[in-house]
Amino acid sequence: MDRNLAIELVRVSEFAALAASKFIGRGDEKAADQAAVDAMRKCLNSLTISGKVVIGEGERDEAPMLYIGEEVGLGGPRVDIALDPLEGTTITAKGGENAMAVIALAQEGGFLNAPDVYMEKISANVQSNQVISLQQNLKSNIEELAKFKKVNVEDLVICILDRERHQEYLEVIRSTGARIKMIGDGDVSAVISSVIQTSNIDMYYGIGGAPEGVLAAAALQCIGGSIEGKLLFNNEDEIQRAKKTGINDLNKIYSIQDLAKGDIMFSATGVTDGTMLKGIKITKDYAETHSIVMRSKTGTIRHINGEHNFNIKQLEY
Ligand code: FBP
Repeated sequence: MDRNLAIELVRVSEFAALAASKFIGRGDEKAADQAAVDAMRKCLNSLTISGKVVIGEGERDEAPMLYIGEEVGLGGPRVDIALDPLEGTTITAKGGENAMAVIALAQEGGFLNAPDVYMEKISANVQSNQVISLQQNLKSNIEELAKFKKVNVEDLVICILDRERHQEYLEVIRSTGARIKMIGDGDVSAVISSVIQTSNIDMYYGIGGAPEGVLAAAALQCIGGSIEGKLLFNNEDEIQRAKKTGINDLNKIYSIQDLAKGDIMFSATGVTDGTMLKGIKITKDYAETHSIVMRSKTGTIRHINGEHNFNIKQLEY
């Protein structure tokens, strides 16, 4: 893929983040998401790519825009696209932390065609699944990570979504003595935080969305670290949806390579302030954005600060 596409991608996440930012704290998740979707789609359709959405807003019958299978772009190299125009709809509606617009590109077949079901995930800043893996239990994962990092288990911070379904995991983590950071939403950001030096999160663990698992893996392929995921099915309908996307082994543990592989480009722009990104700031004259754009091929990571000299109310360049 042409490396300049990575820079083009920044515009796409910036545009979606700017659009969503108008809804920060307004208590309207749907409106925030819709604004981000509209903006991302508009911007994507101005790129010289023949893109196919493989991780998107849902299946064709449930999402009018950026649905799985939707073709986008003006024409050009064939790429697969994984996107979440607003990762953290509730965060945005409440004006919380770590909401962002996210998009990743890969060559055709580079992303797991994950259905919109739950996924058990584990990630940390290690280079292989020798240290952490869904093959071993949570307690062993924590102990192995402490050994690898040469710290006491009590020094580790495990990040987990604050959900009822995680009660048992919380008990296990507490029994090891490790500390816990509970987050309301936004596990793409949490997985990335588990591998970056500047954050205080050592491991992400728990059950979140499968599409978010693929996006997080795309980011880790660029930035480093390890993630594994296992799809979880609540009913027969979810199993059938998975089978439709070609998934037959329902118990498979997906490695980072299974989730996202090859030449990957990833861009995220902050909507609200977070661990990795600053949120949108609007001044009298311009709107400020902070994005991170990365390529797996070269390992390049760019932080891009934008000052957008346009009328935020109309969102027209
Ligand atoms: P949305 O922005 O689509 O609402 O996703 C937020 C999120 O917290 C994800 O980061 C996470 O993977 C998923 O929701 C968890 O799902 P649930 O809220 O059903 O527990």
